[in-house]
Amino acid sequence: MNNNYRSFFGLKKQPFGSDIRLNDILKTAELIDVKDRFDYVIRLGAIGLITGEVGSGKSTAIRYAAEHLHPSEYKSLYMTASSGAIMEFYRQLVHELDIHIKSNSKAMMLRLIKKEISALVCEKKVKVVLLVDEASLLRLEVFAELHTTCQFEKDSKPYLPIILAGQNNLIDKLSYRSSQPLASRIVARSHLQGTDLAGMEDYLKHHLSIAGVKQNLFDQTAITAIQQGSGGLFRKANHLARGALIAAAAQQCTVVNAEHVRLASTEIF
Ligand SMILES: Nc1ncnc2c1ncn2[C@@H]1O[C@H](COP(=O)(O)OP(=O)(O)OP(=O)(O)O)[C@@H](O)[C@H]1O
Ligand SMILES: [Mg+2]
Repeated sequence: MNNNYRSFFGLKKQPFGSDIRLNDILKTAELIDVKDRFDYVIRLGAIGLITGEVGSGKSTAIRYAAEHLHPSEYKSLYMTASSGAIMEFYRQLVHELDIHIKSNSKAMMLRLIKKEISALVCEKKVKVVLLVDEASLLRLEVFAELHTTCQFEKDSKPYLPIILAGQNNLIDKLSYRSSQPLASRIVARSHLQGTDLAGMEDYLKHHLSIAGVKQNLFDQTAITAIQQGSGGLFRKANHLARGALIAAAAQQCTVVNAEHVRLASTEIF
């Protein structure tokens, strides 16, 4: 597919991209809600959850909330979870904390992780936050142990708030008996759903304006088709909207309609 559609519609950059800048994130009510809960979890030193369907905006929401934390006051440890064993999790955390360790001993890693976090909080007066994206991939053995990472001074000091983000099966994994110690520390949950028609219209306009186009290129039938075809989920909406622009440009149509969205939908999952 060529880029002619961009000049046809006067788009200054590829629209509906995933490389969205912090200032370009659309401040939806859901996003503000995630940020409020995120701040609350951090104040309490507890655990918070962000769940939602694939492409609903979880990672973007974490990024938005985390980038509001002032770097002189906060240190965010960002991890993309893997389905590896607990050792893999500790290795990632060790790396995020810039700890150099040769030993592969789990106890040693945990000791050094805690030592470093205590030093950051108590000596450097920095608040530490652990952000785990794709947490639904974590194994049950990780859920069973994760709470020990945030136990300081016999569990009396909440030095390490944790935000877990992931798909909806994160809730299932937290419902296991072995995950109860972790689940019992959760104080706030956000669930991102697909947006409604009005939300989708705002979203499409917003992404067009990021790409330098002020007028709405999508007619009402196209907006409805994108909202229904994506279930209101942003990533799928991005692909449908971009694909529909390409289909419309190929037919020299200056306004995108539902038929262009239908054509786009045959290309994606
Ligand atoms: N608030 C927003 N403003 C603008 N664009 C957004 C916003 N939220 C999400 N998007 C767009 O939707 C895309 C998908 O969002 P994101 O990657 O955050 O979803 P996700 O829920 O983390 O997906 P996955 O389940 O695959 O991890 C982003 O690349 C971005 O283009
Ligand atoms: Mg994500």
